[in-house]
Amino acid sequence: MTATQTILAFAYLVTAVLFILGLKFLSSPRSARTGNILAMIGMVIAVVATCFDASIISWTDIIIGALIGAPIGFVSARLVKMTAMPQMVALFNGAGGGAAALVSTGEFLRLFEGSALPTWDQLLPIVLSSIIGSVSFAGSIVAFAKLQELMTGRPITYAGQQIVNAIVLLALLGLSGWLLAGNVSVPVFAGIVGAALLLGVLGVLPIGGADMPVVISLLNSFTGVAVAVTGFALNSTVLIISGTLVGASGTLLTMLMATAMNRSLANVLFGAFGAAPKAGEATAAAAAGGGAVRSASAEDVATMLAYSRSVIIAPGYGMAVAQAQHAVRELAANLEKRGVDVKFAIHPVAGRMPGHMNVLLAEANVPYDQLHEMDEINPQFEAADVALVIGANDVTNPAARNVQNSPIYGMPILDVDKAKNVVVLKRSMATGFAGIDNPLFENPKTMMLFGDAKDSVQKLAADVAAA
Ligand code: TAP
Repeated sequence: MTATQTILAFAYLVTAVLFILGLKFLSSPRSARTGNILAMIGMVIAVVATCFDASIISWTDIIIGALIGAPIGFVSARLVKMTAMPQMVALFNGAGGGAAALVSTGEFLRLFEGSALPTWDQLLPIVLSSIIGSVSFAGSIVAFAKLQELMTGRPITYAGQQIVNAIVLLALLGLSGWLLAGNVSVPVFAGIVGAALLLGVLGVLPIGGADMPVVISLLNSFTGVAVAVTGFALNSTVLIISGTLVGASGTLLTMLMATAMNRSLANVLFGAFGAAPKAGEATAAAAAGGGAVRSASAEDVATMLAYSRSVIIAPGYGMAVAQAQHAVRELAANLEKRGVDVKFAIHPVAGRMPGHMNVLLAEANVPYDQLHEMDEINPQFEAADVALVIGANDVTNPAARNVQNSPIYGMPILDVDKAKNVVVLKRSMATGFAGIDNPLFENPKTMMLFGDAKDSVQKLAADVAAA
């Protein structure tokens, strides 16, 4: 081993340690920033170290690539709205999968043009990484298009869909076996990549836009695996380690999200959740509804809040849409000034991405010790004077407890209906992500404060200060 190789190996080891520490720190909102910075430093070390690798062929390509890629990454990360974060993650993840597939394709062509045809053990990692990377790339682009509303967000289904998908999968496996058996040719390899891209598109089409965060997390783990396998093809330990970390954490996150929604992964992937209901199909919640809804004014709600002893705020996706987090912090601060005990109830899948509420509230400088996870806060609702639901819907829907044919039956929810009074801030009686009505709105304890969450909370904050 030359001195340069030793230094490179050491730099990659430091990178791996920083990635692992970064992930560890990301597991709590309190330390997440530090985790991000550690992982970023790890990435810089890995990129700089790779530039000293003796096998680099073209510096010009690297510089041009960095000059194009870095500003795009920087500007889009700064400009993206919090609500558009899932599609940005989809796009960047797709880029990772596509890069793994391209690197493998490059490696295939290099070996193919060599003096002897590549052997099956050289080809295996190349084929695997181009398949997984291509599926991830194509699937992520469809996920992006659905979330960005460039195409319908509803599941696209048709008769015989599973059979078509199975045929493409069989063709992919057949071509791969054919290539590995010694029939090495560019058209066969191109067929494999083409079939994998098609499978990525066809696999994501039947999944509803709202399930995309779970799919993106799954595709993210695919990208990690593709990168790790590319590491085997290129003999690169840093790619193997970082790819494995992404693969493992993506898989865990996917399973956590599916569990928090009380859905199996198979149901997310093949259940066409969110498809238009078939004619004559009554929704469970419609059956549960039918009661009267009480609407309140901001002044009434502010008076009730100001004279409460304890208020639990349950934020949801609507707070993110309205960008109401700063106003919410101001309301909480005004209540605390009056001696009201204020807590935040955080449901694991409130919003549209993991940690969505934590990120928004942290951005607004809400102290971490006011944020309480669902299991910790649920027993406290009974003693609360007011549960203030801000743009949350499904995560507070009592149908999850008792309506057996409800799509969210069995999903653990925030027990806001156990508080002495419930106030729900939203714009209309429209449904949330699951597309079902919420009997909470008809509960005699509930008052609806209709309007954009930011406007309503700003009024509440001002009225509480003046009370
Ligand atoms: P939702 O059930 O989606 O409800 C959000 C509510 O916010 C809507 O009913 C909407 O009603 C209201 N809203 C929208 N814009 C608003 C605005 N500007 N001002 C006030 N209200 C506004 O949200 P949730 O309770 O947070 O539940 C999340 C759902 O997403 C769950 O079903 C979960 O399974 C799903 N999901 C979550 C994730 C993750 S990881 N978080 C991933 C995939 C899916 P109006 O239109 O009447 O205002």
